[in-house]
Amino acid sequence: MRHEWSSRLTFILAAVGSAVGLGNIWKFPYITGEYGGGVFILAYLFCICLIGVPIMLAEIGLGRRGKHSPVNTMLQLSREAGAHPAWSLLGWSGMAAGCLILSYYSVIAGEVMAYSFRASSGMFNQQTADGIKGIYTSLVSEPEKLLAWHTIFMSLTVLSVAKGVRDGLEKTVVFLMPALFVLLILLVIYAVNSGGFDQAVDFMFTPDPDKFFYARNDIGHYLMDAQGDKIFTWKPMMVAMGHAFFTLSLGMGAIMMYGSYLNPHVSIGQMTLIIVSLDTLVAILAGLAIFPLVFANGLDPAAGPGLIFETLPLAFGNMTGGALIGTLFFILLFFAALSSAISLIEPSVAWLIESKGVRRIKATVWVGTIVWFIGIGSIFAFSGTSLHDILQILFRWFGIEHVELSQTFLKYNFFTVIDFFTASIMLPVGGLLIAIFAGWVMHQDTTEREFSFHNRHVYPVWQVMVRYVSPFLVLMVFLNIIGIFKF
Ligand code: PHE
Repeated sequence: MRHEWSSRLTFILAAVGSAVGLGNIWKFPYITGEYGGGVFILAYLFCICLIGVPIMLAEIGLGRRGKHSPVNTMLQLSREAGAHPAWSLLGWSGMAAGCLILSYYSVIAGEVMAYSFRASSGMFNQQTADGIKGIYTSLVSEPEKLLAWHTIFMSLTVLSVAKGVRDGLEKTVVFLMPALFVLLILLVIYAVNSGGFDQAVDFMFTPDPDKFFYARNDIGHYLMDAQGDKIFTWKPMMVAMGHAFFTLSLGMGAIMMYGSYLNPHVSIGQMTLIIVSLDTLVAILAGLAIFPLVFANGLDPAAGPGLIFETLPLAFGNMTGGALIGTLFFILLFFAALSSAISLIEPSVAWLIESKGVRRIKATVWVGTIVWFIGIGSIFAFSGTSLHDILQILFRWFGIEHVELSQTFLKYNFFTVIDFFTASIMLPVGGLLIAIFAGWVMHQDTTEREFSFHNRHVYPVWQVMVRYVSPFLVLMVFLNIIGIFKF
């Protein structure tokens, strides 16, 4: 028999475990920094409310109705609604997105593990900003080290998933999530007194549209076109929307998978509100902990993916009990990453078990190995290999020696490409299809019953959102990036 979550609380914990992770604490601060602060956060919150919430309701609902892995859930639901079975492609692209995301997620989680050891050894004590930056540079410039940590993290993910998702998750999340939350608050309190708090609040909450809408170079200067005008860019909007999906684990079937274990009497609306509020709160707290350190130490908010590793250790190195608090923080962040990693891999594992009759252990090892391999590309990226280098190697393989490659390839690497492709394209497209399926393809009485909203005014509102508002907004962002509209 297919089991369900043992209680409503377990579902919330598992879903929060999936949602809260590196996306909130590692990614949100550095992309906020990169895209200029205030307006980026506004755009992100806007997407969370108008796109994230309705689509999360839809995704949980589809999962609970389908009761299978995303591919089979979509097959079953399309049969039920008399729609084309090609809707199951949604499940396939979700599995692909999950594996691609996990491939770099695991490398970063590996860095987090490495940092818990560095914190405990007292390495951060009394360091200057330059010293802390040096520690990070020395870690990422050794691909062997990153590979070792990536291997350890993937093995732990495989072990947890092989045991069966629910047993492990229930215990980890009950204790560790609240503990992480408490430590974050501690860090914010430290940050309030660090000297950069006002500037950080200003950066995060005062909108500066220029920084968001106009392209800037690596050192923050605006790029100019031939007429000397600033160059408009829609990419930050794309990243903000993509991050709303990423941070809520939407658009790739993770939440659908967890919804499939949910018992039919629970109100999906309440669940969604709790998950979304906690996830957003954690991200904002992470920003409030990190940006004051950035400004108090004269660092660059647009430092990129290394941002948390170059800022938080400064706090740990200077507070009393910092070695202990730092170690605990990175260990808890590791568990938050693990509970997200589990949900990234579970749709693929569940599909192999259901459709191919593979045993859970074997299925997990297979998927884990593929993901591990792809992750090697990101290891090279973090240690400095650009897309330019990779293309040159490829050309040389084919015997072409001297090619002039555009300088823009120097700016991108395997990680940035995979990240943009998954978070900013695959997840929003997945979410768009989920919204259309739940809003237009499924029968109304099915969705109405399935969502069991306690308040009868909620259903029509949700329906308008999922039919018109969310798809329209996602499409707008896409059409703008291809340049069809000029917003
Ligand atoms: N939401 C997770 C985070 O913020 C990442 C994730 C994305 C997990 C997509 C599952 C699916 O870290």
